Amino acid sequence: SAKFFVGGNWKANGSTASVAKLVDELNAGTIPRGIDVVVSPPFIYIDYVMQHLDRAKYQLAAQNAWIGGNGAFTGEVTAEQLTDFGVPWVILGHSERRSLCGESNEVVGKKTAHALAAGLGVIACIGETLDQRNSGSMFKVLDAQMDALVAEVKDWSKVVLAYEPVWAIGTGVVATPEQAQEVHAYLRQYCTKKLGAAVADKLRIIYGGSVSDTNCKDLSKQEDIDGFLVGGASLKGPAFVTICNAAG
Ligand code: 13P
Repeated sequence: SAKFFVGGNWKANGSTASVAKLVDELNAGTIPRGIDVVVSPPFIYIDYVMQHLDRAKYQLAAQNAWIGGNGAFTGEVTAEQLTDFGVPWVILGHSERRSLCGESNEVVGKKTAHALAAGLGVIACIGETLDQRNSGSMFKVLDAQMDALVAEVKDWSKVVLAYEPVWAIGTGVVATPEQAQEVHAYLRQYCTKKLGAAVADKLRIIYGGSVSDTNCKDLSKQEDIDGFLVGGASLKGPAFVTICNAAG
């Protein structure tokens, strides 16, 4: 099975004081060998975290990147700049960027291709809203999100796919292990069909949405759950370290 992957998405949270405390807590944690753990601070704290976090245990990710190269794009940070700075990963297509910043499936597909070409690994996020799930269009929505990635991505070896149902993000309403497994298995099948079994078997499909130190173990036992993308609980060092130790 694939190498366990845990991402901590800090979103737009933190201060110099809280980031310093969180870094200390993370450095004190024991992380199993042979897994990938990636923390994703806001851009402005990446330099501090890079200098102080134990990078034998933790890697870094940005939470977004511009769709293209350097230039007159005020307020943006490019994939090339992240590579230059030594940041190996980027989260793209998070539901908050899709819904609050208007990022379409096509934009997320193009951003993903650009980031991969610049040498980054990409945590590509997809997921349905509650309305879409309840109205029976969940698989259609996921297909469209996946189709836009498949249209742009040539090499999937540096992609981690994050399934984050929108209704579970920041709500405390975690998907049940069965709900998550159903979608992860569906996504694996989709990838087998479109990309071949070799790619699909190796692809890490991680779950995000109200993951906590108490629900992570049951989720990680599911066959097609290869790790987690953690929001709120990643802001608490001990809880996040527990989640990192939940490999099924
Ligand atoms: P929560 O863990 O706070 O629900 O957030 C999940 C998420 O959006 C991670 O990217």
